[in-house]
Amino acid sequence: MDKIVIEGGKSLHGEIRISGAKNAALPLITATLLSPGWHTLHNVPDLRDTRTMLALLESLGVVWERQGDTLRINSDKLAGYEASYNLVKTMRASVLVLGPLLARMGRARVSLPGGCAIGARPIDFHIKGLEKLGVNLTLEQGYVDAQVKERMEGNTIYFDIPSVTGTENMLMAAVVAKGTTVIKNAAREPEIGNLVDMLVSMGARIEGKDSDKLIVHGVEELKPAEIAIIPDRIETGTFLVAVGATGGELTLTNCNPAHLPSLFEKLRAVGLDIEAQDDAIRVASNGSIRSVDVKTMPYPGYPTDLQAQIMALMALGNGLSVIVETIFENRFMHVAELRRMGADIRIDGHSAIISGKERLYGAQVMATDLRASASLVIAGLAAEGKTEISRVYHLDRGYDDLANKLSNVGARIWREKE
Ligand code: EPZ
Repeated sequence: MDKIVIEGGKSLHGEIRISGAKNAALPLITATLLSPGWHTLHNVPDLRDTRTMLALLESLGVVWERQGDTLRINSDKLAGYEASYNLVKTMRASVLVLGPLLARMGRARVSLPGGCAIGARPIDFHIKGLEKLGVNLTLEQGYVDAQVKERMEGNTIYFDIPSVTGTENMLMAAVVAKGTTVIKNAAREPEIGNLVDMLVSMGARIEGKDSDKLIVHGVEELKPAEIAIIPDRIETGTFLVAVGATGGELTLTNCNPAHLPSLFEKLRAVGLDIEAQDDAIRVASNGSIRSVDVKTMPYPGYPTDLQAQIMALMALGNGLSVIVETIFENRFMHVAELRRMGADIRIDGHSAIISGKERLYGAQVMATDLRASASLVIAGLAAEGKTEISRVYHLDRGYDDLANKLSNVGARIWREKE
C-alpha cells in the first residue's frame, strides 16, 4: 500500500492539465449499456473508480478497449444483470447500472451499497422512482432485485432532495420507457448535463437540461454514442484551493470555469486573484488568506466535494470561519487529522468552527475518504516540515496522478510504499 510524503512550504508555479470528471465518467460508462454497438468516450480519467466500473461491466459481458484517454465500449454480448456485493461495496456508484440494465434487459439485481464514511447514503429515492416507472422491486439478502414485465411506463417522479445519481438512474431508465417521464426537483450538477448530452446524441428526447425539471419522452431504441467527458470541476477546485494555501500562480487548462461559480466567489473573497478564460483558469495568491464562511448546497451552490479542501485553507485564515455541511451527515472525518497538524477546529452538529492559525505543522495523518485525503494534501503542502498521508487508495479513487501533477509545479511531494 502507498503513502504520500510532502515537504511543505513550497509555493506552486506553472501549468496543470485537468482530467475528465470522475462523476461524469461513471454514469456515461453505464449509459453504454443502453444500446448495442461501439460507443466512444473521450477525455476519460484513469482512476480506481473508472477501472472498478469497467470491471463491473465486464462481469456483465461487456468488452472495452482504452487508447490514452479514449475508451471504446461494446455491450452486444450483454448477458448478466447482477452487480455483486464485492464490486458495489468498493464503489457505491455501481448502483448506476440499475436504470440502464432495466431499460435494456428488463431485469437488474444490484447489491445494496451499505454504509459509507461520509453518511448513511440510502438509495430509497432510486427505488421509489423506479417503482413509479412500473418496476417491481424486492429487497432480499442485501440485494435489490428489479424486474419489469414488458416496458417501463413514463410517470412523474419527485425527489425530496435533488439526488445526483438518483437523477441519472431515472434518466437512463426513462429514455426508453413508454410515454413521458417528468423528474421534478432533479439535481442540476454539470455531470448530469453531460449525461443528457450523451443520451440525446444516442437518440433520446429530453427537455430541461441543467434545470430542476427534466422531461423525458420515451423512444423505441437508441444508437451508440461518441462524446467527451467534461473536465473535473472538483479536481479543478482542489488545485485552486491549494494555491490559496501555498501561495503562487497556476494556469489550469482543459477545464470549464463556468462550472465553479460558488467556489470562485468564495476564493475571491479569501483574496485569490482568478482570471477565467473559455477552457482555462489563471489563479494567483500572495499567501494572505481571509477567513470566509461556507455552506455546502446542491449545484449551483457550494459543492460538498470541495468542503474538506476549503477547510484546510480556512485552518490558515486570518480569523474565524464557519463551514456548514448540509448534504452528508458525517463529512468531517478530516477534522481530527487536520487537528493533528495544528489546526484549531471545533465541531457543533453540522457546523465546523475554524479559528485560523499562522501555520500548520507536518505530521503523520490518515486518509478516511476521497475528498478528506485531498484536504490533507493541501494542508501538507502549506505546512512546516514533513507530512505523511497513509491509506491514499482513497485519493486514487478520484484523482488522476495528483502527486505528479503537483510536483511538476514545484511541490515537494512523492509516493512511497508503506
Ligand atoms: C453524488 O453522490 C457524487 N457521486 C458525490 O461525490 C457527491 O458528493 C454527491 O453526489 C453530492 O453532490 C457521484 O456522482 C458518483 P446524492 P450521490 O444522491 O448521487 C440523500 C465524490 O467525492 N439521498 O446527490 O450518491 C443522500 O444521503 C462523491 O466524488 C437519500 O436520502 O449523492 C444525501 O444526503 C462523494 N436517498 C443527499 O440525498 C437517496 O436515494 C444527496 O445525495 C439518494 C440520496
